[in-house]
Amino acid sequence: MARLNLLEETRYEKLPVTVYNNQQDASLAVAARIAKLIKDKEAKGEKTVLGLATGVTPIGVYAELVRLHKEESLSFKNVITFNLEEYYPMQPNAAQSYVTFMNENLFNHVDIDKKNVHIPDGTLTQDDVAAFCLDYEQKITKLGGLDLQILGIGRTGHIGFNEPGSAPNSGTRLVTLDDLTRNDASRDFGGKQNVPTKAITMGVGTIFKAREIILMAWSQKKAPIVKKAVEGEISGEVPATYLQLSDHVEFVLDEAAASSLTRFNTPWLVKDCSWENGLKKKAVIWLADTLDKPILKLTEEDYNNHGMAQLAVEQGPVYNINIDIFTQSSVSFRRFNAAIITLKQTRWVPLGSAKSPAANTWWGFTFCNKSMVNCMSSSPTVFFLIFPVS
Ligand code: GLP
Repeated sequence: MARLNLLEETRYEKLPVTVYNNQQDASLAVAARIAKLIKDKEAKGEKTVLGLATGVTPIGVYAELVRLHKEESLSFKNVITFNLEEYYPMQPNAAQSYVTFMNENLFNHVDIDKKNVHIPDGTLTQDDVAAFCLDYEQKITKLGGLDLQILGIGRTGHIGFNEPGSAPNSGTRLVTLDDLTRNDASRDFGGKQNVPTKAITMGVGTIFKAREIILMAWSQKKAPIVKKAVEGEISGEVPATYLQLSDHVEFVLDEAAASSLTRFNTPWLVKDCSWENGLKKKAVIWLADTLDKPILKLTEEDYNNHGMAQLAVEQGPVYNINIDIFTQSSVSFRRFNAAIITLKQTRWVPLGSAKSPAANTWWGFTFCNKSMVNCMSSSPTVFFLIFPVS
């Protein structure tokens, strides 16, 4: 059943999302939750079973946990950890191994008993992998399951190394890495050709069984995939969307990673707005783009049907708003000393610059905003804005 969402502002969001000003604040908050969990369980004489992630994203959380250990006597003696994944094949002492990553960022700096640390073994023979994976699952189960799993998200929408196509009930297993994932990892390996093509990962089903799941994402780079994971339909194409089915999940984001969510990117769709000029311009251009109409042809009905009734009521009639935004667009053209060239939509011209042999000057060129073009014509042409760079 769909999650009951009582807040209009987050009605497109299919799981709980908390947005922090920056990744530092977010990391401290997640670390504080982990520390509280460890202390609460310790007070009851219980061990804490943590599912841990690698990648750039959780580094700030681990740094804060190390600080809490050193400065506020947080102990990891009662903590048992299971890492999400390891490249395959991979030697544990290799610089790129997740064993090295975890040792350097957390385990070497806290009082955890290394016997309580579990990371998939990248040195196994193919024949031994299946039994290892089964044992990994059984160890987690015997310990009563994961209390908390922390996650990052890959640009393919993977969690752990559960790439597109992973099943929602998948367990720990050997997988083949997606091309984009190997591209993203190439910086750590000195080239994509050195990135292993396979990995051993906990499954979506393994993650799903955790009593609490926190997925973290920082930076603009993650904004598009975060939007899909939070607002998109549940689909194997974006494995993180399976998390929408969990009652125990939370996405913790910085502002940049959250910026494509509806409540930030097109807020007029979900709440009353304060219509300062920048937002008005963004909304009108968005409306023209969405409807593929010239700005001057946007009607009151268009405004009403696309969450912009408030703007129409407060600053209408819409014809005046259209003129206002159209005029502002023209001004910005003039500011660039622009010449508009129309071309039939027959070839791809990339964003960039070119040297004009005649004038011996450099020219920049970029695509015009489609709605600006629509202001002037509705013919099926592509426009390029050409302007002198110096
Ligand atoms: C990596 C890891 C994932 C991680 C993701 C994002 O490949 N296997 O567990 O969440 O990709 O990485 P990062 O945090 O560096 O952006």
